[in-house]
Parts: sequence; structure tokens; C-alpha cells
Amino acid sequence: MKYINEINRRKTFAIISHPDAGKTTLTEKFLLFGGAIQVAGAVKSNKIKKGATSDFMEIERQRGISVATSVMTFEYKDMLINLLDTPGHKDFAEDTYRTLTAVDSVILVVDSVNGVEEQTRRLMEVCRMRDTPVIVFINKMDRDGKFPFDLLDEIEKELNISLHPLTWPINMGKEFKGVYNLYDKSLNLFTPGQKATDENSVPIHDLADKLLDEKVGDRDAAQLREDAELLSGVYGDLDAEDYLKGRVAPVFFGSAVNNFGVKEMLDTFIRIAPTPEDRQTDKGLVKPTDDKFSGFIFKIHANLDPRHRDRIAFLRVCSGRFERNKNYHHVRLDKDVRFSAPYSFMARQKEVIDDAYPGDVVGLFDTGNFKIGDTLTEGADFYFTGMPSFSPEIFKEVVNKDPMKTKQLEKGLRQLTDEGVAQLFTQHNGNRKIIGCVGDLQFEVIQYRLLQEYGASVNFVPLAFYKACWITGEKKKLEDFVRFKQANVMEDKDGNLVYLAQSEWFLNTERQNNPDIEFHFTSEF
Ligand code: G4P
Repeated sequence: MKYINEINRRKTFAIISHPDAGKTTLTEKFLLFGGAIQVAGAVKSNKIKKGATSDFMEIERQRGISVATSVMTFEYKDMLINLLDTPGHKDFAEDTYRTLTAVDSVILVVDSVNGVEEQTRRLMEVCRMRDTPVIVFINKMDRDGKFPFDLLDEIEKELNISLHPLTWPINMGKEFKGVYNLYDKSLNLFTPGQKATDENSVPIHDLADKLLDEKVGDRDAAQLREDAELLSGVYGDLDAEDYLKGRVAPVFFGSAVNNFGVKEMLDTFIRIAPTPEDRQTDKGLVKPTDDKFSGFIFKIHANLDPRHRDRIAFLRVCSGRFERNKNYHHVRLDKDVRFSAPYSFMARQKEVIDDAYPGDVVGLFDTGNFKIGDTLTEGADFYFTGMPSFSPEIFKEVVNKDPMKTKQLEKGLRQLTDEGVAQLFTQHNGNRKIIGCVGDLQFEVIQYRLLQEYGASVNFVPLAFYKACWITGEKKKLEDFVRFKQANVMEDKDGNLVYLAQSEWFLNTERQNNPDIEFHFTSEF
């Protein structure tokens, strides 16, 4: 347990939300508390601007600057916090899913006016798969939103998680007066347009305190007393273990843009959020306290400059100590690799580091050695699991417009799929290539990048598939199935068999007709 002190001061997490709920604003407030002020501006410019000339050109612009905000490391009250950025645009949801494999907890921002939205639902599904601990921030209390009890109800039902409010709002919209902290029994008063400071915090030892009526008025004081009684009856004390196991999510109310309720949440976060956790591998659990280094690649970011095809691979350190210039084992390629200029994202800009500890994210220059999901170790032969591919939602066949550039096209497609931009399916025993994505924007990005970076010109022909399912089963049965369903069976990037279903009905029929074949909705089974 050589590095226990380093491990215990680290918290690695992501903020997730449906676009416009307030993720960027909250991120900026966190960075301000952490003293990393300059990065705050970058977070904003990193956001895909609404109504920009072309969404995908905007994404290209963003790609140039988003390395700096991919990981934001700051110190707060002696803790070292790694905040991993997730793209807000729904077409890049897969990127977000992968980033979620590299964090130990998340903060979910919910807009008090809109409640649970589409992206909230999907992101939480991914968190549920891994039992990731979640803290909920209900934002925009300065607007007339849904009633707090209704919001809790909606979130619990729609996201299938139990909630436990730690603060409670006093009114909302124009009448918003602040929040009552149910945990330390203090009152935090809200003044519109002013930043929350400690002076606004009024300790109230007992809700019967007349000071409460004085501060918020008789009517709101009476309502708060009624609410608080109801809350204590329903929720009692928060069991930290339930939070850490992903069973219960503490809830805070506030207004990110007014920096209200943010500090309370951050203070609770550093108190209860998990430090780097154990990680599953194909050979059992790896503990952060294990002496030997290990980590995995969860994101690959290509440089914008087409003349240099250098990429940056993001490594999450899982155990031991990562050191500069030391040889590590690249498990998939079974070879040694070393890095002379690994960098961290501390203190406003990236800087070369000598070492890193569990929970940290290190940027590694890569000339094409890495794929998403790759494991690095100090000699050991295991790989980290829990990084599945999900079925894409849109499928298109690749049409090569320039046969002279076939080689470049193959290379480009391979590298872009290694980066995780899209999933590539190749016809089993054939040449057809199908690209699967979550959103249409990704196809534009692929078409543009293939041309710009590889000189390969392609068109896409839309295909009417509904889902990709990874299939397994006894060899003979699988061979028979593949023979009968040739047009629908492809191979993924690792050579696994994938069945593309035209509709839910087709999929169900095939499942019924082929009880010996298993259909999986993710690539990990
Ligand atoms: P996102 O990253 O989740 O997409 O959301 P972002 O923080 O960019 O916030 C979306 C919009 O909501 C922004 O307004 C932001 O100012 C606003 N907002 C954030 N927190 C609050 C809050 O507590 N109360 C209110 N009333 N609004 C909030 P915008 O007009 O889209 O952008 P901007 O011009 O203000 O930057």
C-alpha cells in the first residue's frame, strides 16, 4: 500500500446531463472553487454553439480545443479532483459512455423546469449498468420549475434510482429564497444576481427557530417546516454505503449560474464520493493499492493537423504508479511501450509529468498503437473488462468513390474506428463495409476526415437496420445460422460475429427460431 496517501486524496468523476441543463455552467463553478480559473473560459468555448454555420464544422472546431478540457484536474481542500468532460451532443453519446467507464462517480444535473430528459435517461442507464455512485443536482431553481416533491418522484420513477435530498429549496422562481441544509441544519439564503458566500449561510439549530420566519417570511417558513417533517419521515439519515453501492443518490437543489448551492454540493462530494475503486479484469479484481502499475485507454483524440497523424490516448491509471520513461506491457499487442512525454491536465494547461497515481488520467502520444479499451500493465497479462460497445442506431454502407485510394480508405476506416468515432462492421467472408453510429453527425465527420486526413472519398448508403446484436453459440449451430443469414451477419473490429436485424420483429423471430444462439446487446458477454 505504498501510495495510499495519493490514492485517498483523489476523486475522479464526470458531470452528466441532457444538453442545456447546466453542465458547462456547473463545471465552470467547480473550476472556480478549485482555482483553475482560466480553464473555465475554455469549457464554455468548448461547447457546441447553437445555430453555428454547420454543426459538424463546429465539432471540428471543438476537436481542436477540447483536449484541454477533456480532463480538468484541480485541488480543493487538499483533495485532488479529476473532472472528466463528456460531450453534450447526443450524436456523440458513445464517447460519453466510454468516459463513464473511467470515472468512480458522477454528478447528474437535472433542469428543474424540464425534469428528466432523453439524454438523462440514457446516461443513467449506463451508470446503472456499473452501479456508479450518483449525486443529483437539481438546477435552475431561480426559474419556475416543477414542484420539488414531483421532481423527486419523476426522477426516481424514470431513472429507477432511490433519492435522498440533502438540501431542500424554499420556494422557486422569482420567489426562490434559498435552500435548507437537512444535513447540517443550516439555512443558505439566495440573493438573485449575487454570488453565494458563506455570509449567506445562517445556522438554524431548530426549525422552530423564529429566525427562520424572520429570514424567509411566515408563509415559506411554515411550508419548510411541513416539508422538512415529511422528508425526515420518509428519508431519515443518508447511508453512505447505499450511495457508494449506487443504490441511493443524494440530491442538492441550486442554481449553477448564480453559483448557488454549488459549494454545498462540492463539500459533500469531497466528503462522500468514492476514491479510486477496484477494477474488474479478465483475471479478477485489480485494487488501486496493488503495487504494480496498470491502466486502460478510454479515449483517443486525433490531432487536427492532417499532416501529423499523431493522436493522444487517454490512460486511466488503475493501480500502482505510472512513471515516465518506464517500459510497460501493451497487453493486446504483446509488446513493450514507453512514454517520454506523458502529460497531465493539472493547473490550467497540460504539462509533462513524471508520475501519476490511481484515479489520474494521463495523456499519451500515440502513433497508432492504441485502440479504445487497451490495457497497459507492468508485465502482467490481463486486460480490463467493462468497456462494451453498444449497438449503433444508424447503419450505412460505405461506397468507395475512388478505387485508386482503396488502401487509404481501409487505413482511415481502421484508425477512425480505433478512435471510437464509429463502429465498423465487415461482411463475414466478404468485402462489404458497414458503419454504425449513434447519430447522423458522425457520418459527416467521418466523410470529412477520411477525405482531409486520408485522401479517401466516400459516400454512404443508408441501410434499414434496427440493431446490431453480437451472437454466440455452439460452433456448428453458429455456422448454420451464418450460412442462412449471410446478408445480415457481419464481423466487428475484433472479428466477433454480429447479426444486423431489420426490425424488432425480425430479431424476436430469429431468437425464437434459434434457441441455441445467444443474441447480446453489447459486445461484452
Ligand atoms: P449544458 O452544458 O448542460 O448544455 O448547459 P449550460 O451550462 O451551457 O447551460 C445552458 C443554459 O442554461 C445557459 O444559458 C446557462 O446560462 C443557463 N443556466 C445554467 N444554470 C442556470 C441556472 O441556475 N438558472 C438559470 N436561469 N439559467 C441557468 P444560455 O442562454 O444557453 O447561454 P448563456 O448565453 O447564458 O451562456
